[in-house]
Amino acid sequence: MRYAVACDHAGYQLKAPLVAELTARGHEILDLGTDGPESVDYPVFAAKVARAIGSGDADMGLLLCGTGLGMAVTANKFPGVRAVTVSEAFSARMARNHNDANILCLGARVLGEGAALDVLRAWLGEVFEGGRHQRRVDMIMEAPECL
Ligand code: RB5
Repeated sequence: MRYAVACDHAGYQLKAPLVAELTARGHEILDLGTDGPESVDYPVFAAKVARAIGSGDADMGLLLCGTGLGMAVTANKFPGVRAVTVSEAFSARMARNHNDANILCLGARVLGEGAALDVLRAWLGEVFEGGRHQRRVDMIMEAPECL
């Protein structure tokens, strides 16, 4: 899969180890920054990954900030995005199985490197189950204002 990856300054420390895990599993990386620990605005980087998903330049996304929260709030404003903030493996699996989430948002002030890798590995090990979950995802993506 092609993974678009970005972070802000608070998530920067997680980027290299998580990219290494994705690469080791054969995924292609589209690295959209940031490239250092200097303070930046997380919405700019969430937008880059969200647009890569919407345009088809990437299949999946990984966003890293202090909490994973602002990244998800921002990314979910863009078409085609289902971004989730996850801090443990069970939710990571469910986000793929039931929600067909396509951007994983992690918080480097919440999770250490080992815990973040645990969440990412759980996410990578799962697929969307479809069926009744497809109907529900379609409800979200097609006309949420009609719900
Ligand atoms: C940056 O201080 C912090 O607000 C950001 O990394 C993130 O946690 C926002 O949701």
